[in-house]
Amino acid sequence: MPGAHSPSEDHGHERGVPVNPVFAAEPVDIPRFTIPDGGLDPEVAYQVVHDELMLDGNARLNLATFVTTWAEPQAERLMAESLDKNMIDKDEYPRTADLEQRCVRMLADLWNAPDPGRAIGCSTTGSSEACMLGGLALKRRWQHRRRAAGQPVQRPNIVMGINVQICWDKFADYFEVEPRLVPMSGDRLHLGVDEALALCDENTIGVVAVLGSTFDGSYEPVEALCAALDDLQERTGLDVPVHVDGASGAMVAPFCDPDLVWDFRLARVASINTSGHKYGLVHPGVGWAVWRDTAALPEDLVFRVNYLGGDMPTFALNFSRPGGQVIAQYYQFLRLGRDGYTRVQSTCRAIATGLAHRIEATGAFRLLTDGSQLPVFAFTVAEGEPFSVFDVSAALRESGWLVPAYTFPADRQDLAALRIVVRNGFSHDLAGLLLDDLRRVLERLRRQAAPVRGAESAGFAHGTRSAPAAERCRSQP
Ligand SMILES: Cc1ncc(COP(=O)(O)O)c(C=O)c1O
Repeated sequence: MPGAHSPSEDHGHERGVPVNPVFAAEPVDIPRFTIPDGGLDPEVAYQVVHDELMLDGNARLNLATFVTTWAEPQAERLMAESLDKNMIDKDEYPRTADLEQRCVRMLADLWNAPDPGRAIGCSTTGSSEACMLGGLALKRRWQHRRRAAGQPVQRPNIVMGINVQICWDKFADYFEVEPRLVPMSGDRLHLGVDEALALCDENTIGVVAVLGSTFDGSYEPVEALCAALDDLQERTGLDVPVHVDGASGAMVAPFCDPDLVWDFRLARVASINTSGHKYGLVHPGVGWAVWRDTAALPEDLVFRVNYLGGDMPTFALNFSRPGGQVIAQYYQFLRLGRDGYTRVQSTCRAIATGLAHRIEATGAFRLLTDGSQLPVFAFTVAEGEPFSVFDVSAALRESGWLVPAYTFPADRQDLAALRIVVRNGFSHDLAGLLLDDLRRVLERLRRQAAPVRGAESAGFAHGTRSAPAAERCRSQP
């Protein structure tokens, strides 16, 4: 429930917010949970809000998030200049609407759509919304196919790894599709092809493949999955499409792994999403969903709105949305070009792999991944160390570093890990400073008799699900 964990409530601060005198104004006391009767001077109101926010973590030191925390001032200036533009008002802001369509074409081209001009897509608030739209299109296509064949449409299911980000659990729950989750097993910490195939039947609307996993940054085997589904179709007639959740990877692989075949080059890939605000390098919130052609997005999902004088096609969960992020995305495409994106993402990867191996070299940790796919890596505590990953996360927080620790879902609930997301702006120098702090922390933690903190102390991990949540999802009808 929003606001249920308000720290001020937890600490019983039911009284108002006492405000110190600023700019020589009289001290005032403002209500904490009700809109005040009267207003404040803008300087005082600004200072109150600004001071409250000082206690948030430092976004640049937040190694939990995949979301952009640094951008060039020119991108920020364009966003500030377009704060008043509503993305949905396409008639009123036709240039903004055109930039959105150019971005869709550019992404369709980047992801090797057979005919980028015939690909169809839209911007969203982020990958969560884009995944919902991708899932809805799969469901609707399946329903159309089944109805045309006179078959029932009551029990759709979607197949995916248990490592999928929480937005896919939401999709399944909100849109009443049975989630069929492939558990982890041994060293396989994401979707297994054979295991996914075994869960497919005539009610499967599609398989989700993640490039790369929120848990550890690893790429799922999209090409092998598609080949296996081709084979399934040949053997049984079942035609199961694939949606690639490229929230992060769809803006990394095209630049760093051009030979990896995971996109519209595979005929079975119906749709792809990415977060413009992750490795698309835009401040939050913008995402993208692209379908390989118009056949992949049923026309009856697209609403035509006669609004403010124009006929406007819309496929989105939100109506109003800021236009600045889309404008900043177009800026980044122009500013960096393929060459610039390649340099940024390769640098992130070099920093991630370098840091991963230096962390491994402390002898205190075992790498689960090393940042050589997404510039993201996960590591666990080596056998015999007297501390937990949760102890390490808490200790690093003392120096301002936000490094999440979390347990894995079924069938690897025994595994707990730390994860570091290397983003643009996390330099070699910052990585060196983090390593210095980690070494200092280790000296102290190694003197502990036994681990102090357990999974109950785990905080934010950007949508990875905890083991109990995974169990809850698995037990859903
Ligand atoms: C693989 C994956 N899919 C979807 C999402 C949700 O993305 P967003 O935060 O843009 O809604 C994330 C977020 O981390 C993710 O890692």
